[in-house]
Amino acid sequence: MLTPVILAGGNGTRLWPLSRRDTPKQFLALLGEQSLLQATLLRLEGLEVARSIVVCADAHRFLVAEQLREIGCEADIVLEPEGRDTAPAIALAALCQQTRQDSAGRDAPMLVLPSDHHLEDVAVFHEALQTALPTAGRGDLVTFGIVPTRAETGYGYLEVADVTTGLQPLVRFVEKPDAIRAREFANDGQHLWNSGMFLLRGDRYLEELRHWRPAMHASVEKAWAGRGTDLDFLRPQADAFAECDAESIDYAVMEQTRVGVVVPLTAGWSDVGSYQALWDVASKDDDGNLLRGDVIAEDTQDAWIQSQSRLVAALGISDLVVVETADAVLVADRHRVQEVKTLVARLQSLG
Ligand code: GDD
Ligand code: MG
Repeated sequence: MLTPVILAGGNGTRLWPLSRRDTPKQFLALLGEQSLLQATLLRLEGLEVARSIVVCADAHRFLVAEQLREIGCEADIVLEPEGRDTAPAIALAALCQQTRQDSAGRDAPMLVLPSDHHLEDVAVFHEALQTALPTAGRGDLVTFGIVPTRAETGYGYLEVADVTTGLQPLVRFVEKPDAIRAREFANDGQHLWNSGMFLLRGDRYLEELRHWRPAMHASVEKAWAGRGTDLDFLRPQADAFAECDAESIDYAVMEQTRVGVVVPLTAGWSDVGSYQALWDVASKDDDGNLLRGDVIAEDTQDAWIQSQSRLVAALGISDLVVVETADAVLVADRHRVQEVKTLVARLQSLG
């Protein structure tokens, strides 16, 4: 038995203008019929799971409730008054699990899942979870490691004794290394990418947080103790939660812990947080194009053209990303789409 904990509080700026403040990427159907959030929950079908916990921004509560209803998923929805990154969010989930009325699954390890990932092979994912469950049940913090295919600086790296063996201790965790170290890690046969999914007992996570980040632990506890009495949504007390530093689980706990374990995962994992990552997993037509919506393309290759509100016609272009929405259009060099984040920061500074 495990308790799914879905982190759905990110803002997804790298996918602007598809992803917006009101509807960040996790709520969009970027690959297939379901939103990424829905796909994350549906991927657990067939496992023995307790009621899920979704942690998200207050502003997205109705969107989340509606998307859960659509797929028939029962969950506790915990609302953050303000995002404080994943370390406090997971602590809220752990406290939510511990204070449930219903004791079923109260001690079950929590499967912490980002809501913006894609997995090709669900059966292999389920096998990895079964491998991880006993050790997580004993109190280890389990990570899932992916064999690196490039020197990505946006991921965490898990150092292990040997990347070719199975479940093993986590020697060291390095979150988002610089380019030089990423290149080293990607090639030395001793590092795996951190997939961003974790299997851990809530009580162990809270102990670790209390040890490594006592002030954060205290603020989250205070916020939870002062939560509102609304029955539909769980609302931690805003002032106490605002005292937390914004920090991810990766820096706050995983880089520090001595009880980390790595389970390798070969399930065709990808983080679909950017145009590049979506491009890599989406299927293209014979000209290498990804065309969505009302689009016609002549003599066009290796382009992503997407329209939401009007016809888009392309002629003689290649290697471009063109994304049309009702109020904004992105036209970008396909090889520079990682920089969309910078562009959005500039837009935000303009108000
Ligand atoms: N509830 C909540 N609150 N969720 C959040 C918050 C928050 O304040 N901030 C981020 N999230 C959610 C995001 O929506 C996403 O689903 C997940 O938590 C991870 O956050 P990201 O911001 O996407 O993290 P990252 O991609 O930079 O890094 C993480 O994932 C990588 C793999 O994709 C790390 O765990 C890396 O080590 C890992 O390699
Ligand atoms: Mg991410």
